[in-house]
This record gives sequence, structure tokens and C-alpha cells, in this order.
Amino acid sequence: MNKSFLVTLGIVLIVAASMAFTSGQDPHYKNLKVLPKNITKHQLDSVMKHFTTALNVKCNFCHVKVEGSDEWNFPSDVNKHKLIARDMMKMTNNINKKYFDVTGSGGKKDLNVQLMVTCYTCHNGRKEPLAFVPVKDTARK
Ligand code: HEC
Ligand code: HEC
Repeated sequence: MNKSFLVTLGIVLIVAASMAFTSGQDPHYKNLKVLPKNITKHQLDSVMKHFTTALNVKCNFCHVKVEGSDEWNFPSDVNKHKLIARDMMKMTNNINKKYFDVTGSGGKKDLNVQLMVTCYTCHNGRKEPLAFVPVKDTARK
């Protein structure tokens, strides 16, 4: 995994880090409730890419198009998967803060080292993470 990807993910999970951003020429997103509002396009894109890879889905799993058109309506919240994803972002953030001292003052400053739980940790390329060991794996033991 490359370093800038990890840095971005760290930032996703740590809203307080938003002060570190410079908005520059980047687009002004309309409906960010968890991510920092002044996130750059590059950072937002790599967060979304992490979501699609972690769950093995495409953008349309969470986002809808403008009705009767082929254009995306990314700010829209009508897709319930997007709402679940937003809750999952908060949950992941809380797990990291509470159990891995991601933002704790005593913790190390380097996000690359501290980031412990991501969407991929649980989802592992699935929409719904497995709760039990698959039968074929238990049978062999
Ligand atoms: C698993 C669900 C999920 C997937 C898949 C996903 N997104 Fe998102 N996307 C979200 C959520 C949740 C937000 C809002 C985050 C927040 O509130 O801080 C968002 C926000 C956005 C925004 C900002 C919209 C605005 O103006 O507020 C853009 C642009 C975007 N996504 C593009 C994409 C693209 C392009 C893809 C495919 C490569 C993608 N997303 C895949 C869940 C998803
Ligand atoms: C601690 C484990 C864990 C982490 C971390 C996690 N998830 Fe989940 N997620 C789950 C579980 C378990 C379910 C299934 C819940 C169910 O079946 O009702 C789920 C379900 C979902 C769903 C609904 C899928 C569907 O089929 O409707 C979405 C969307 C989702 N997660 C997105 C995310 C995103 C985006 C992240 C990272 C910000 C994330 N999750 C991080 C455990 C996790």
C-alpha cells in the first residue's frame, strides 16, 4: 500500500486533522458530514476508491444519478447504503480513537503507524463481512 493512500485514510478517520488541509483550487463538496469540508479532490477520490475496493462494489452501490439523466448526484443522500457507509465511517473512527489511541495525546504522531482499523479490516472485499468461519474451512480441521 502506498504512503499517500494511508495518509489520506488516516485523515478520513480523524476529523480533527481537517485543520491541516489547504483547499486551493479543489471543488467545494456540498454534503460532507464526516470528512473534512476542505478535503482535496485527490484525497476524496482515494477515500472513495478505498470504499469501492474494501466492499468490492462500484460508486453506484452508494450513489445515485440525477433523475432521468446520466449525470451523478454525489451529494444526494437517498441511497440507504450511503447512509450506512456514513455511520460505518463514524464507527471506524470511534474504534480507532477508543482502542488504538489514534488521536490520543500520548500516541505517536505518525498516522501511518497509528491507523489500525479500516473498512477493509472487516469487509475484506465483501459487502457484508463474515461473522462465522466458512463451513469448508472448519471441516478440514
Ligand atoms: C460504500 C459507500 C460509498 C461508495 C462505494 C462510494 N461512496 Fe462516495 N460517498 C460516500 C459517503 C458516505 C459520502 C459522504 C461522506 C461524508 O458525509 O463525509 C460520499 C461522498 C462523495 C462525494 C462528495 C459529494 C458531495 O458533494 O458532498 C463524491 C464526489 C463521491 N462520494 C464520489 C464517489 C465516487 C466517484 C465513487 C466511486 C469511485 C464513490 N463515491 C463511491 C459513500 C460511498
Ligand atoms: C468492525 C467491522 C466493520 C468495519 C470497520 C466496517 N464495517 Fe461496514 N459492516 C460491518 C458489518 C458486520 C456489516 C453487516 C451488517 C449487517 O449485515 O446488517 C457492515 C455493513 C456495511 C454496509 C451495508 C452493506 C449492505 O449489504 O447493505 C456498508 C455500506 C458498509 N458496511 C460500509 C462500510 C464502510 C464504508 C466502512 C469504512 C468506513 C465500513 N463499512 C467499516 C462491519 C464493519
